[in-house]
Amino acid sequence: MADIIVKNAYVLTMDPDAGDLKNGTVVIEDGKITEIGEKTSESADTVIDAKHSVVMPGLVNTHTHAAMTLFRGYADDLQLADWLEGHIWPVEAKLTAEDVYKGSLLACLEMIKSGTTSFADMYFYMDETAKAVEASGLRASLCHGLIELWNEEKGEADLKEGKRFVRAWQGAADGRIKTMYGPHAPNTCSEEFLAKVREEANKDGAGIHIHLLETEAELLAMKERYGKCSVHLLEDIGFLGPDVLAAHCVWLSEGDIEILGKRGVNVSHNVISNMKLASGIAPVQKMLEKGVNVSLGTDGCASNNNLDLFEEMKTAALLHKVNTFNPTALPAQQVLQMSTVNGAKALGTETGMLKVGMKADLIVVDMKKPHLTPCFDVPSHLVYSARGSDVRTTIVNGKVLMDDYKVLALDEQKVMEEAQKAAEELVARVNA
Ligand code: NI
Repeated sequence: MADIIVKNAYVLTMDPDAGDLKNGTVVIEDGKITEIGEKTSESADTVIDAKHSVVMPGLVNTHTHAAMTLFRGYADDLQLADWLEGHIWPVEAKLTAEDVYKGSLLACLEMIKSGTTSFADMYFYMDETAKAVEASGLRASLCHGLIELWNEEKGEADLKEGKRFVRAWQGAADGRIKTMYGPHAPNTCSEEFLAKVREEANKDGAGIHIHLLETEAELLAMKERYGKCSVHLLEDIGFLGPDVLAAHCVWLSEGDIEILGKRGVNVSHNVISNMKLASGIAPVQKMLEKGVNVSLGTDGCASNNNLDLFEEMKTAALLHKVNTFNPTALPAQQVLQMSTVNGAKALGTETGMLKVGMKADLIVVDMKKPHLTPCFDVPSHLVYSARGSDVRTTIVNGKVLMDDYKVLALDEQKVMEEAQKAAEELVARVNA
């Protein structure tokens, strides 16, 4: 007997070797997809009737700082330096471990409700984020942010904590948690420190999550310090590889794109954050043409201000069209691939596709809505018309986290109330 059967659904597999099914069934057992077809002879404890709905792989958010949900709407419409140094750093300085837990749990709740089944996170007090992931049922790749700032002592302490975290949580929560090293960025960590991080990551078989050329300021600072940009510096110290997840990648030259493609680096495109902070437009089409694995990320809620990947998909599709004066750029199917298949590849998880043998991370999107009627083309609707709030059921690792809009994994009201209270008290401490 199976655990879950999703029936009567439009099955969007995202599997290039298989088509979609207009009316199909997905069978789940022991956390994996065991059957996909028009009908099944199996029975299951849980049968989900997905009539008028699409079942598809859960979305993958490849760059965020979950606990920053507490700063949602706290500082908007500001210059980057003023935003960061005048507003974000002062509140971060007052954050407690408990705040990080409550903010991370709020992020997990928001992701479950908007169809994200796994995410990559970099922050501090990461044990708390890991506990929130464990409690929520989501899948995540987590790292402790390492900000050396040319201070050897701080670098050593950060690296020690990063390593402790990598070893403490690797494979935890039934394998839903993976750990990585998280050197913040090439303009906040020295060349020697970055080389050391690479060495430690190799020893532990862990990946590396880093911010890369988000701003022109980083590019200029790197050229002044080293006479070369961040990508060339990382290439020269043997840092780049297919286990590297690089967020932003806005200020890239043609040569940089070649290097990222050649080294198999995974890029997280954070379109809304880049627009909100006016950082620039990442050359996504050029990267895809050079074989770079480009996925989607929201970044933290201080620069987005939500974790809705449906919004991210639409914005990415539109921005690259107008930026290239080409309405055929980034078509819906390609954007869906970025948020599912490419995201899963970036995190190295067996998800991102509905395929027999893959882990059962999937969502059911309710298509019986005024803004989704009529429906000629499912990928088009998912990218251009649907919203995160159209997700009615979320399943991760074969467990139902939300069933027909009801979150089973967490107490929704309690999570929101506690986050609200933590955010208010945090701001009061900053202003005291
Ligand atoms: Ni970030």
